[in-house]
Amino acid sequence: NPVYLNGRYLPVEEAHISVLDRGFLFGDGVYEVIPAYRGRLFEFEAHMARLDNSLAAVLIGNPHSLDEWRGILVPLLKGGTDQYVYLQITRGAAPKRDHLFPENIPPTVFAMSSPIPPYPERDTGIRAVCLEDSRWDNCHVKAITLLANVLLRQEASERGGAEAILVKNGFVTEGSSSNVFAVLNGVLVTPPLSRDILPGITRAVILKICRENHVSCREQSMTIDDLKQADEIWIASSVREVVPVVDLDGRAVGGGEPGPAWQQVNRLFQAYKQ
Ligand code: PDD
Repeated sequence: NPVYLNGRYLPVEEAHISVLDRGFLFGDGVYEVIPAYRGRLFEFEAHMARLDNSLAAVLIGNPHSLDEWRGILVPLLKGGTDQYVYLQITRGAAPKRDHLFPENIPPTVFAMSSPIPPYPERDTGIRAVCLEDSRWDNCHVKAITLLANVLLRQEASERGGAEAILVKNGFVTEGSSSNVFAVLNGVLVTPPLSRDILPGITRAVILKICRENHVSCREQSMTIDDLKQADEIWIASSVREVVPVVDLDGRAVGGGEPGPAWQQVNRLFQAYKQ
């Protein structure tokens, strides 16, 4: 199962980076996770556009063109199975540890694929836990620096939740690794894009599907109190797709089962994927 590292395909055991790599020392890099259904990269251009934005935000030049990226990633897809591709670019390995950007150091480019595991909870729903959003002010950047996300997800798990839904100044931002949707008084709502959330590709696909199928969906701020009253809550990401939350902080959401809006949008999403 080869991985890609700086121009070569290698067995994962042979793919080595320097301990001075700034990804390792500083979390100084950005990443993408792109699903591939039946061997086809899903929303590839959208993921690459977001990668461009993340790289620009952290002042790393994109080492490859769109076609070069496709050429790097496609060989990682084995056969026609469902997989996701992980790619990351760091500011490279400087000769010594120094916060300042090194000069004339090539970035480190790494990519690998993994099978998309079955996710039966998508149909039954998951529990989620609300936690205070303790992350930084650039959550629109898909940075590899994920310590806050990791701690939040772990805390949610220890409280019996499969996702942490994050709250900043009383407003819902997103999940620890997903975007959030809710049905509030019969209307589907998701928080608007800002520096507080990642512009999720799955989120964008859901908005597009809703537009095309005359399902009204508003990009609108929601408070934690709105969320507690919601008829439905979903999380959305490339890895989990669209997942109903049936229990929030130990209380049933709606009827405690996946709701009708989720049934409809999930059906549309599954069809769109094909
Ligand atoms: N995470 N918000 C955060 C903080 C995320 O980490 C993710 C995805 C999303 C959803 O984005 P998308 O629909 O483009 O996957 C929202 C990826 C899957 C991860 O870190 O593994």
